[in-house]
Amino acid sequence: MAKYFNPFTISVDYSNGKISEIAPIQCHLVDLKSHFSDRKAVEKTLSSGLNPLIYEVYEAFQPFMSGHLNFGTTILNPGKIAKEYFFTKGHHHVRDCGEIYTFFKGKGIFLLQTKNGETAEMPLKAGTTIYVPPGWAHRMVNVGKEELISIFCYDAAAGHDYSSIERTGFAKLVVERNRKTQIIDNPNFSI
Ligand SMILES: [Fe+2]
Repeated sequence: MAKYFNPFTISVDYSNGKISEIAPIQCHLVDLKSHFSDRKAVEKTLSSGLNPLIYEVYEAFQPFMSGHLNFGTTILNPGKIAKEYFFTKGHHHVRDCGEIYTFFKGKGIFLLQTKNGETAEMPLKAGTTIYVPPGWAHRMVNVGKEELISIFCYDAAAGHDYSSIERTGFAKLVVERNRKTQIIDNPNFSI
């Protein structure tokens, strides 16, 4: 008889999104420098000695096999590079599968796009749960003044494809113009 995978618990601190049992994956500006639209502003920030923490992911790694679920939290800090708000790198899943995010702090915009060029933008706030269907690349953007924090859950065999997004960029950018949040077309986007 096959041995069962043992059940376990994790402790999420809902005030800050941290999970005490897990070491976070951190993403700083230098890790995202090819993703922000204003490369000169990125270089200026980095050359001044600043390399802000953009986001952290706490992920409870499961066996890389279908049937298991992977889950954890994402903490996206507030801030901007030039006019563009901080965002997560964004990715496709290697194996087509859906994902659920529930946001419990902050204010944001969720960007989605398919490889056929379809796009969708969803506003986010505490209490928003979003279903990402298979085939949609996804990125979250923090447009608020505090951290944007979510819990996610997806098929443990999904895998992450970051290189497609690195190559094409996202079709939409989220920027501040005239003190308002605006979603604009990315002039550098190409399928
Ligand atoms: Fe995902």
